[in-house]
Amino acid sequence: MLKVGIFGVGHLGKFHLNNWKDIRDTELVGFYDPNDDIAQQVTEKYQLARFLDAESLMNACDAVDIVTPTPFHFELCKMAIRKGKNVFVEKPLAHTMDEERELVKLAKESNIKFQVGHVERFNPAFLAVQQTDLKPMFIEVHRLAEFNPRGTEVSVILDLMIHDIDIILSIVNSDVKNISASGVAVMTDTPDIANVRIEFNNGCVANLTSSRISMKKMRKMRLFQKDAYIGIDFLNKKTEIIKLKTPQDVDAFSFDLDTPHGKKTIAIANPLIPEVNAIKMELEKFRDAIVNNTPTIVSEVDGFRAMDVAHQILQKIKNNSLTS
Ligand SMILES: NC(=O)c1ccc[n+]([C@@H]2O[C@H](COP(=O)([O-])OP(=O)(O)OC[C@H]3O[C@@H](n4cnc5c(N)ncnc54)[C@H](O)[C@@H]3O)[C@@H](O)[C@H]2O)c1
Repeated sequence: MLKVGIFGVGHLGKFHLNNWKDIRDTELVGFYDPNDDIAQQVTEKYQLARFLDAESLMNACDAVDIVTPTPFHFELCKMAIRKGKNVFVEKPLAHTMDEERELVKLAKESNIKFQVGHVERFNPAFLAVQQTDLKPMFIEVHRLAEFNPRGTEVSVILDLMIHDIDIILSIVNSDVKNISASGVAVMTDTPDIANVRIEFNNGCVANLTSSRISMKKMRKMRLFQKDAYIGIDFLNKKTEIIKLKTPQDVDAFSFDLDTPHGKKTIAIANPLIPEVNAIKMELEKFRDAIVNNTPTIVSEVDGFRAMDVAHQILQKIKNNSLTS
């Protein structure tokens, strides 16, 4: 039985708590949250033990699930690794590159499993393209959200765009060559809306727009590659693949187009979307990695790479605002 403790039972922590209860061979030993009102609600509603300090909860468990605001991730992760506890930490991994570097180093020197909460990797719309050969040369992303004060202790890059950066780095098998970025702080003192262009050494270009001050929600990624267009709608959990028809595409809707290069048959497929609860799946995979001693799906190195790109973006935005 894997003993798990949750740190932070605010908005997202409660979802984690509910999911842990349904994950086999795990025991939720308790939670730590300094907010008395929230703690009281959780104790009453879930009959879960409240620990009054982080260290005693860590001592009582094998794995920690850190769902606090980002500025607290580093100290809690560090304490957990030093105690030999497996760590699941919400995204973004930490607040500064120095903190992230130290966490990667500490995790590498330890025997623990470390996973970062890039939950979009488990979004059914993204899981639906796991069997598709993704080799995008152009990526267009829109992640738009209505304003919500939660999460605004960090910029929109670390709050929202980080999801897309992580997904793109997991797809594009090449190093980043160049980044251009522009962003504006409207409602907070860090960028609330941003547009970013990432160029990779293999020629792929990703164009990302993120906003947390939008009137409507959107979470779409469009991938263009030599033989196909792949549309992934993370919000509505739909995926569409439009491509030149091959003999394997028997079930796809298709139509013919006359082109100067002859008749082409286009196939439109909607891959089967798995019925998956993304949060439950990411926590289950973390548990499996501990129990089976296998690598985690989103490791501390993945979290670090995404943050490295995010910090370069923030630096570009800062440089732009100094010159404008
Ligand atoms: N993966 C995702 O899609 C996603 C979505 C939302 C939030 N998040 C991340 O989850 C984290 C929490 O976000 P939220 O929206 O639940 O925030 P929240 O403000 O609703 O909840 C945070 C909770 O942590 C508690 N807390 C503060 N300091 C603490 C400490 N030192 N130790 C333990 N608990 C502490 C607070 O009292 C609060 O109850 C953030 O890092 C955020 O970036 C991820």
